[in-house]
Amino acid sequence: MCWIRSQYRHRFTDFTDVLIPVYNWGFRVLGGHKHEAFRQRVIELAELRGDERVLDAGCGTGLTTLHIAARHPDCVMHGIDLSPKMIEVAEKGAEKQGLAVDFRVGSITDLPYPDADLDVVLTNIMFHHLDLVEKRQAVAEIARVLKPGGRYISAEFGPRARNPLERRLAKGDYTLYPSHLTEADLTICHEELSFFVWGLKVYHRVAVKLAKSPPEFLEEDPL
Ligand SMILES: C[S@@+](CC[C@H](N)C(=O)[O-])C[C@H]1O[C@@H](n2cnc3c(N)ncnc32)[C@H](O)[C@@H]1O
Repeated sequence: MCWIRSQYRHRFTDFTDVLIPVYNWGFRVLGGHKHEAFRQRVIELAELRGDERVLDAGCGTGLTTLHIAARHPDCVMHGIDLSPKMIEVAEKGAEKQGLAVDFRVGSITDLPYPDADLDVVLTNIMFHHLDLVEKRQAVAEIARVLKPGGRYISAEFGPRARNPLERRLAKGDYTLYPSHLTEADLTICHEELSFFVWGLKVYHRVAVKLAKSPPEFLEEDPL
C-alpha cells in the first residue's frame, strides 16, 4: 500500500485526479461524438465473445469499463487504476448502474492477477503516465496475465504530435511504441491512426499473445 501511495503521488496522476470532478462531463460534453467514437472503436476491436474475462488497466473513472459491462453482461469485467480517487468514482458508477465490476487500486506494472487469467486487456490513453522502465514492465505484465490467444487492445497517443498538448502527452519516452509489444512477445495484428478528442491523435492497436507451439520432441509419437 505504501508503494502504491508513493507511485500514486508522481507525475500525471495528480493532474488527472484534479480533473475528476469534470472528468466524465469534460469528455462527454466537450469531446462529443469523437469521444463516443473513440471508446466505441476500442470495444469493436476487442470483438468480445460470450463470457470472456476482460481487464481495463488504468481504467480511470471507468468510462470504458462500465460501457463494456453494460453491453456485455456475460463478460467478467475488471478495472484497475493507481488512483484510489478514480476507483472510488468508478465504483460509484457501477453501483448507480447496477453493474458488477471488480474494481481495484493497483498498478499496471504489477498486476494482481494470476498468469494466463484473462482473455482481453485494454488500455486507453494511460501509457503517457509511465516512464520507459514502467512501460516495459506494464507490457510484460499484460503479456503475463493474458491467456494464450488472448488479445491486448490499446488506444494510446502516438509519436506524430503536432499540437503543443499532444507533444507534451506523446513526448519521447511517454509513447507506447510497437517495439514494446513485440519485445513482450505480443504480435500486432491491427493498427490504425485515429482521433481521441480535441484533435489529439491516437493509435488503436490489437496485439495477440500467440499460443506457443510445444517443442517438436513433445509432438513425436512416443511409440
Ligand atoms: C488519462 S486517464 C485515462 C483513464 C481511462 N483509461 C479513460 O479512458 O478514461 C489515465 C489513468 O491512468 C492511471 N494511471 C497512471 N499510472 C498508472 C499505473 N501505473 N497503473 C494503473 N493506472 C495508472 C491514472 O490514475 C489515470 O486514471
